[in-house]
Amino acid sequence: MNNPFNLINRIAVVTGSARGIGQSIAIELAKAGANVVVSDIISGNTTVSKIKKLKRKSFFIKTDVSKKEDVDNLIKETIKRFKKIDILVNNAGIFHPCPTHTSSEEEWNKTIEINLKGYFLCAQAAGKYMLKRRKGSIINISSVAGLLGYATAASYCASKGGIVLLTKSLAAEWGPQGIRINSICPGIIETAMTKNLLKDKKTRLGMLARIPLKRTGKPIDIAGATVFLASDVSSYITGQEVVIDGGWTASL
Ligand SMILES: NC(=O)c1ccc[n+]([C@@H]2O[C@H](COP(=O)([O-])OP(=O)(O)OC[C@H]3O[C@@H](n4cnc5c(N)ncnc54)[C@H](O)[C@@H]3O)[C@@H](O)[C@H]2O)c1
Repeated sequence: MNNPFNLINRIAVVTGSARGIGQSIAIELAKAGANVVVSDIISGNTTVSKIKKLKRKSFFIKTDVSKKEDVDNLIKETIKRFKKIDILVNNAGIFHPCPTHTSSEEEWNKTIEINLKGYFLCAQAAGKYMLKRRKGSIINISSVAGLLGYATAASYCASKGGIVLLTKSLAAEWGPQGIRINSICPGIIETAMTKNLLKDKKTRLGMLARIPLKRTGKPIDIAGATVFLASDVSSYITGQEVVIDGGWTASL
């Protein structure tokens, strides 16, 4: 019987996939059958090895998503090696919490350039090829911080909120050409990004108290929904946010 989640022969690009949520997404896409281009500013060779062990094709391209020449090269190399791109997962991001009144212009610029402009550049570069084939799925990893405001996270919330509307805008523009674009909004997921935050017992317990499922998330919790949004099972879903937060925002 055909598995509708099947991604065999699909080509996926995942940004920021050297570790954390991006790495888990790259591996789960490969498990579903996709060949995966791993990209990051740090080495993605561990992710590539894990994917190759699954008997899928994979290679790493060093990419700073905030630089247009890097992004263009990432997509150009993907097309050169695989001839097409079916799935783009915009995941590379940074989070530098700081009080707004003492934060710097550099901090604001860096967060917006990587978290928001980077997603736009990658969607634009991949979208050009998807539009020609009238086929493709783009998944943007936003955050619950793209839906709600959090103290000391002004630039991060602004970037993540921007992603939610970038997603809707592209869904409206490219839907008629068969391209779907959706966001995923994770809550608290255990990765390098949240390590320091979760190390503090008081903060951790405070967060758990607000999560109905009484646990923090794992990268795999985000990867499963990404496979769903990449696959044909979700072929009538576009421009939406899938919130994966253990119920945090449902119970506010
Ligand atoms: N961990 C969480 O709780 C959480 C919650 C909501 C949303 N998110 C989002 O999920 C995504 C992945 O985060 P994570 O938790 O796995 O964090 P992480 O820090 O473990 O991974 C982020 C990856 O992005 C890469 N990266 C950073 N800047 C880059 C750039 N300029 N170009 C290319 N790659 C770059 C890093 O090298 C790293 O491999 C981010 O967009 C983050 O905002 C995370």
